[in-house]
Amino acid sequence: MAKQEDDFKKVISHAKEYGYVFQSSEIYDGLSAVYDYAQNGAELKKNIREYWWKAMVQLNDNIVGIDAAIFMHPTTWKASGHVDAFNDPLIDNKDSKKRYRADVLVEDHVAKIEAKIEKEVAKAAKRFGDKFDKEQFLATNQRVVDYQEQATAILKRLGRSLENEDLADVKKLIEELDIACPMSGSKNWTEVKQFNLMFGTKLGATADSAMDLYLRPETAQGIFVNFLNVQKTGRMKIPFGIAQTGKAFRNEIVARQFIFRMREFEQMEMQYFIKPGTQQEWYEKWKENRMKWHLSLGLGEDNYRFHDHEKLAHYADAAADIEFRFPFGFKELEGIHSRTDFDLSSHEKFSGKKLQYFDPETRESYVPYVLETSIGLDRMFLAVFSNSLVEEELENGSTRTVLKLPAVLAPTKAAILPLVKKDGLPEVAHEIIEDLKWDFNVTYDEKDAVGRRYRRQDANGTPFCITVDHQTLEDRTVTIRHRDSMEQERVSISSLKEIIHKAVDMKTWLMKMQKL
Ligand code: GAP
Repeated sequence: MAKQEDDFKKVISHAKEYGYVFQSSEIYDGLSAVYDYAQNGAELKKNIREYWWKAMVQLNDNIVGIDAAIFMHPTTWKASGHVDAFNDPLIDNKDSKKRYRADVLVEDHVAKIEAKIEKEVAKAAKRFGDKFDKEQFLATNQRVVDYQEQATAILKRLGRSLENEDLADVKKLIEELDIACPMSGSKNWTEVKQFNLMFGTKLGATADSAMDLYLRPETAQGIFVNFLNVQKTGRMKIPFGIAQTGKAFRNEIVARQFIFRMREFEQMEMQYFIKPGTQQEWYEKWKENRMKWHLSLGLGEDNYRFHDHEKLAHYADAAADIEFRFPFGFKELEGIHSRTDFDLSSHEKFSGKKLQYFDPETRESYVPYVLETSIGLDRMFLAVFSNSLVEEELENGSTRTVLKLPAVLAPTKAAILPLVKKDGLPEVAHEIIEDLKWDFNVTYDEKDAVGRRYRRQDANGTPFCITVDHQTLEDRTVTIRHRDSMEQERVSISSLKEIIHKAVDMKTWLMKMQKL
């Protein structure tokens, strides 16, 4: 646990030190769970967004993208169920006065049981070496089977109690599991209460005429209310999808873990409109498709897993998370939800407008079902960033900090370094920049010895360092150093564009999805 915390602290301080993420309004001591993306962070975030947009919109001729407003008519949130049901179950510790999400306390307890399973697996893998069969071990080792049963039973009971709004049983569960306040160790708990997560605001100049609004807690509703407009103007035929990225706001009570849980965050969501009865088939397809998108980035297959929901949101008939191994353990990164016709039917009811699709083949009208994929951009940022940050032991005994970002997402693709600040080398370096900058984000660095500059770019995640030296003046060649292998090769200036392009081209990376 201490190592996990330590690793996570390193991630947060690296993000600050290298201009990725800053605490919001830091000069006023910051605002809790609100963050700003700095010069490198904004680029990385933009690249992740583009990687998602291309995969969803550009590569699917039946998916289009929109950009709906953050403010929506307040009835939207009545219809969507958020006014009545977008609640978190909260519990206070009477001694420490700290407030927690009751379900998170239980889930964290389960995570500890799961960590014990992982420990047993690691021990056995070491003992049995090549002969180790993980599946068999998980199914037959009595201790592991017992842990697994414990974890499943706890999650089942939590899911059932939350679904039945039986908050007294959630408290009972916390007491039975002997869960203590993580801050104080006290087990002196209040009752569990529901708390709505939406931020309210007002539209209008005077107090009398002002209209109560909410900041949207998800981008999905902007898609639902535009469903018919898009379908008609785009002449879309079912199945088809509408995608969008944008800010969402939630008054998260347990807002910790850096950009994992924020009060203002960005979502990348896609609603896929389908014929009722086909939802199971599309649910499986989109689970597979989204997992391939993740795997194409090469962060490691072992770092992902599916988690099927026991407790379903008020709108869903099936739901799964893609979980990622964050520095603090496996947690939700993306949700895939089969939302039935809940949203469109409800908007029909509340608006009095028909939101139906006319099938030209069967000549029937119906309210489509919806399959949703929803990923937090900030969470994806954290997944990529934390997974990429490594400390490497080098052969000479020294260590280097390197941010092994997938090259396609790296904010800066190449740094151009004149070996010395004289003899015309800076001029050639600038010439190279003038040529490359039309295609890639590149940077110039002449300060310090070249070794230190390499380390700086490694820590910044820059995939290539291009060094201009005296030989360059003679034969128009430079050395290009690869961030991950640290290998260097001598290449002609005229080949640089092609080398960099091969490594960072989105098409090449996205095409990996087809081979998975
Ligand atoms: N439209 C469905 C929806 O909003 P959700 O599971 O509540 O579903 C989807 O959110 C995704 O949004 C999550 O998987 C997560 O990546 C991201 N997300 C949710 N709340 C967040 C928060 N407070 N901070 C950062 N990301 C968040």
